[in-house]
Amino acid sequence: MVNYMVKQSKNFNPKYKWARARYQPCLPLGENGQKVSASKEHIKLARTAAEEGMVLLKNENNVLPLAKGEKIALFGKGSVDTVIGGWGSGNVTTSPYAVTIFEGLKNKEDSGRIQLFKDNYDHIKKYTDKLNAKTVRPGLRDYDDTKCPESILKKASSFADTAIFVLSRDAGESIDRNGDFDMLPGERALFEQVEANFNKIILLLNICGPVNLKEFKDNKKVGAILACFASGIEGGNACADILCGDVNPSGRLTDTYADDLDAYPSTETFTASPDYVEYKEDIFVGYRYFETFDFAKNHVVYPFGYGLSYTEYDIKFLNGYLKNKKIFVECEVKNIGSVSGKETVQLYYSAPQGKLGKASRELCAFQKTNELAPGKSQKIILSFSVDDMSSYDDMGKVQKSAWILEKGTYSFYLGNNVRNAEKIDFSYKVDKSFEMVEQLCERCKPSSAFSRLTAFGEYEDVDFEECRQYPSEKSPATKLKPMKYDEKYKLIDVATGKVKVEKFLSQLSDEELIHLTGASTYNPNKGVANTFGIGNLEEYGIPNIMTADGPAGVRLNEETMAPATFWPMSTVLANTWNPKIVNRVGEAAGKEVKENNLDIWLAPGMNIHRTPMCGRNFEYYSEDPFLTGTMATAMVKGIQSVGVSACIKHFCCNNKEDFRTESDSRVSERALREIYLKGFEMTVKNAKPWMLMTAYNKMNGIFTSTNKELLTDILRNEWGFDGCVSSDWGNHAPHVLEIKAGNNFKMPYGFPDSVMEAIHNFDINREEIMECAKHVVEMILRVGD
Ligand code: BGC
Repeated sequence: MVNYMVKQSKNFNPKYKWARARYQPCLPLGENGQKVSASKEHIKLARTAAEEGMVLLKNENNVLPLAKGEKIALFGKGSVDTVIGGWGSGNVTTSPYAVTIFEGLKNKEDSGRIQLFKDNYDHIKKYTDKLNAKTVRPGLRDYDDTKCPESILKKASSFADTAIFVLSRDAGESIDRNGDFDMLPGERALFEQVEANFNKIILLLNICGPVNLKEFKDNKKVGAILACFASGIEGGNACADILCGDVNPSGRLTDTYADDLDAYPSTETFTASPDYVEYKEDIFVGYRYFETFDFAKNHVVYPFGYGLSYTEYDIKFLNGYLKNKKIFVECEVKNIGSVSGKETVQLYYSAPQGKLGKASRELCAFQKTNELAPGKSQKIILSFSVDDMSSYDDMGKVQKSAWILEKGTYSFYLGNNVRNAEKIDFSYKVDKSFEMVEQLCERCKPSSAFSRLTAFGEYEDVDFEECRQYPSEKSPATKLKPMKYDEKYKLIDVATGKVKVEKFLSQLSDEELIHLTGASTYNPNKGVANTFGIGNLEEYGIPNIMTADGPAGVRLNEETMAPATFWPMSTVLANTWNPKIVNRVGEAAGKEVKENNLDIWLAPGMNIHRTPMCGRNFEYYSEDPFLTGTMATAMVKGIQSVGVSACIKHFCCNNKEDFRTESDSRVSERALREIYLKGFEMTVKNAKPWMLMTAYNKMNGIFTSTNKELLTDILRNEWGFDGCVSSDWGNHAPHVLEIKAGNNFKMPYGFPDSVMEAIHNFDINREEIMECAKHVVEMILRVGD
């Protein structure tokens, strides 16, 4: 039973319910009638999040922080035309401004901290203006850089001691990255110029996803590498804060950075076919692959969890124990350097190989310390459930379709990245052949033959079953007929408890119920919205509830002139390893959604970084499902704490943008459960999101939005999801099959005629439609207090 009554019990007044959606009032949410959208407080939070999410990867001979008065020269188009975020629905177009890297450093010069060479600004600006003029859609442009005129270069090298070379990578929706993992010819030519003229080079990575850093890591002239990513409205200032040491970097990578795109096990299959992708690497995604196989180990340039600080920390294991099926690991972190900072303690487990085979390391707990002054320490207690270490046996090697803990010793590694983690003097043992954690049923089985990598470095064929095309069976004839009552109930009567939702819906005709599962035309945008609405049956008092995109901020059309904070890209939020900050960003972003009279924020995105080349990775958190689930949980709780619905997306296996509306992600049940569903499962169970968006793609031969095993059996029945499921916008799946599977409404519009026809043909019945409509109105009841 959905709990919307409880939430409303505090200060619920039926008179004002959905007032924002209906009347679009100008009601700022800040103190003294001030707006919170793009307010000073929110912008400050965006800067803090950016500062905590940037990652220092190299710092030799204390090149950083910059010395007082140090003279620097900037190179690379990203210094002036800084990538603020990715483009597409994850873009923010009404950010009041965005500080570039150049501007951030100029601000430091203005405060007397450094000296900045400015004579190459015009040259770079002219070049980037030319590139932007060629842009066919926002953000899509030629990536390459251009050489610096010799005269400017000479001036720069006689002025500055230090060159800062900015390497930029844009990315966005509907197109995957292609050919930009390594340096491009123009970038190389520019870098060679810089290298020939400077002895001290700092590399700034203004990127939306991993690039090849091998040669920069090895290059003696490159003293420091700072990954500042695409960090939103205050990105340039945050970056300058770290370069100048006003902030001590504490971000840690949430992906593995390898020395060759081909070293990632996903590369081979990523572009092999426009029709499908075989997830042959199986559970060995990211560090699970690089840490398990000896042949892969040397390809790692910077490992998962890695990041430097301007100080040093000592992590001391204190104690490990088991209590009520939970494992506790106590440790002490001490700042042994000379400046304050924050460290992130990471705990990995290594499960016995057993019959299933395991990755050699898996993240099971982490915590960031408070700001520790030099010499100060903090005691940290990490904890997690024993069951979290279980594996899913999809082929019945031990116990078919069950989460199990295989016999043997589970060891633990404590440290500050996956490579720098030492085995602790504590382990967990399973003595019997296996411990049962949860017996489930076979779901979402592959529908075609392919082979998958095992922990033993071999490939095995997956079990598959062709033609698993549920749920296309006929439906029993409708038993329910629309009901007539003495009075016409309005949705508010459900909110006040006067009538039950089932009775309320029983008055609606078939057409009206179908409308709720997907309108025949767009439910029109109201106010500043541009992604359309849900509901919209005013005759029954069902308001038209507006959606808006995320996850980088509220995405509106520029002409609305309604300012929104441009938050750092999601990977940067995850890089903070600080769920508290992510939660605060969620709350603040939720308020901006609400203040703009919108009720549903289409965020967070939480697909796994299967490959660095997925165009939308910047909207997602990490290659690791546990970290992803932890961050999404914090984000959803923040958003929904202000009465706005989060919408976790894209469920599931949308790990590719090219051909995304048709491509079939072929994946074993085990990899699905352990990698691609895990973060969603954690978030559904721990944060109770009110809405979830299915993905465009197929998974094991079936569109995700028509997959009953995925949406009804797993999501609702196994995990207890009690929210509402939406399609992705304009997907290619049939509306009727979506309703039958448990995809509750189709956006931005549905195909009601096809559903009516299906009723007549006994392909669907009123009961099935009613079930979807119920989830739609229950979600509307939850928002708009
Ligand atoms: C994207 C979604 C987005 C929706 C609405 C789709 O193209 O995949 O993430 O929320 O559009 O703009």
